[in-house]
Amino acid sequence: TSTTTTPKSLIGFQSVATNFEDAVHVPKGYTGKVLFAWGDPVSNGPAFSFDAQNSAADQAQQAGMHHDGIHFFSLPYGSNSSTHGLLVMNHEYIDDVVIHIDGGYRYSPSTYSVEKANKELAAHGVSVIEVKKVNGQWDVVRPSQYARRVTGNTPMTLTGPAAGSDFLKTAADPTGREVLGTLNNCAHGYTPWGTYLTCEENFHQYFGSKSGSDLVDNDLNAYKRYGVPKTSSYGWETQLERFDLDKTPNEPNRFGWVVEFDPFDPSSKPVKHTAFGRFSHENVAFLIAPDKRVVFYSGDDARFEYIYKFVTAKPYDANNRAANATLLDEGTLYVAKFNADKTGEWLPLVHGQLGLTAENGFRSQAEVLVKTRLAADKVGATKMDRPEWITTDPKKQDVYVTLTNNNRRTEAQQDAANPRADNQMGHILRWRETGGNPTDTRFTWDIYVFAGSPDLPSAQHKGNVKGDIFACPDGLWMDSNGLLWIQTDMSSDSIGKGALAPFGNNQMLASDPTTGEVRRFLTGPKGCEVTGVIATPDMKTMFVNIQHPGETETDANPANPTKVSSWPNGQRPRSATVVIVKDDGGVIGS
Ligand code: FEO
Ligand code: CA
Ligand code: CA
Ligand code: CA
Repeated sequence: TSTTTTPKSLIGFQSVATNFEDAVHVPKGYTGKVLFAWGDPVSNGPAFSFDAQNSAADQAQQAGMHHDGIHFFSLPYGSNSSTHGLLVMNHEYIDDVVIHIDGGYRYSPSTYSVEKANKELAAHGVSVIEVKKVNGQWDVVRPSQYARRVTGNTPMTLTGPAAGSDFLKTAADPTGREVLGTLNNCAHGYTPWGTYLTCEENFHQYFGSKSGSDLVDNDLNAYKRYGVPKTSSYGWETQLERFDLDKTPNEPNRFGWVVEFDPFDPSSKPVKHTAFGRFSHENVAFLIAPDKRVVFYSGDDARFEYIYKFVTAKPYDANNRAANATLLDEGTLYVAKFNADKTGEWLPLVHGQLGLTAENGFRSQAEVLVKTRLAADKVGATKMDRPEWITTDPKKQDVYVTLTNNNRRTEAQQDAANPRADNQMGHILRWRETGGNPTDTRFTWDIYVFAGSPDLPSAQHKGNVKGDIFACPDGLWMDSNGLLWIQTDMSSDSIGKGALAPFGNNQMLASDPTTGEVRRFLTGPKGCEVTGVIATPDMKTMFVNIQHPGETETDANPANPTKVSSWPNGQRPRSATVVIVKDDGGVIGS
């Protein structure tokens, strides 16, 4: 007789029910506490004003808005501490309803000012904070020698093949190598040598033409393909010349990159790596090849955009941290093509190959990289349903990506990798390169799960989730035990409505790839998305970001900031990091 043993599930917690409450819920036997909210000082600095009275200078010393990708680096560097470390997190964008007492440009154009624009720039970027567990309680260390804000005004360097090219030159920077700030810092990545990567996603939306000139109509700098609008909603172009397309037409070319910095050195100058290509980078996740070259995966989050990978030209040196500082300057960028037979291939975006020639509008590798989306169109990559986060399984060399939704895909546009028209629910796709070698240019793929609920009437919405239902997967992280954490981002005005009614507020779930089971671990407050998750090396503390509680388009009113949500303080809503522990001190998820 043969015996089969059922694998022991990695999931041990009791599921949290869907709900529409203005609160964070975690499973029985777990505790979640707010650790670091918008406006909290990163070190000794000005306290948060619940009346939105903090200045631009205050904001530059405080947590930005819209917490997103997050990473934990043990202190000291090279240790494996699970009680002391740096928490580094992105601040993606702002809620212009709540950042100023009378709202942003859209609400109060007559009182909009350089000071307000600079406060908004200071609310973007990255926070580095020092955190420590003392007497069983996690807290932010203040003051801290490591604490830092990187903002929309922080000086940084452009490197790689496009740096110094005419596309990146401006009147303020004739070298094309020096840029102020990073924007729309969505999700993140890190490197094997302990640096942090922050990804510039929807950078296009910050630019506009103050005079309403015809530069956008004439499509200078591929503005249309990148979605650069004629006027922006934040109105920075009305106050600051570098966001005015008439004055600084190349400034948008200096955004849309992956940015690296050393979080252990608060004086380190961030670097924008042009070799990774320019698009709405969601996040980056790596695998290390047998020859020690490093392969970074990144999705372009917009409808019908692509999935990319960057392979370093040189191997990574585990014994010489400084030697890796220029590793991301040189390598090959590829874009993915998914075939109907569940195979796929990586197409190189290299000047002179696959039609990326001067006759077709690509005069140099710099042009291929600045106009990455056009190059990917040219080589015939597969248009995906909004690629959001990517995570890797270094044990199996598997790669997972969330395809959050795409309500514009028609039946005629269905393909094997994006098989649902009007894809409101989203899915998670997985692939592995030939031989498990991430530098290989061939792979096989499958669909890990289709999101949805079997109780919904439309076949398009049912999905095939084993366990707790969810929709619109976005954040994705495989922990060191092999558990896959899924975070959702149903858009704020669609929560609880139509086909999304059964799912409650946005949430985080865990899935065991061995069994396929999905179980709901956390639900967020009203109007939020849940995005960004990391744990300490011992997996006994988890940090989760709650983004834009209270966000709404339909009910927005700066005079009534708590109309939708007053999380977490019963006052003006604030994005925040929540720290979660198991009450018995055990591993998170068990
Ligand atoms: Fe910033 Fe695609 O999420
Ligand atoms: Ca996202
Ligand atoms: Ca999203
Ligand atoms: Ca978001």
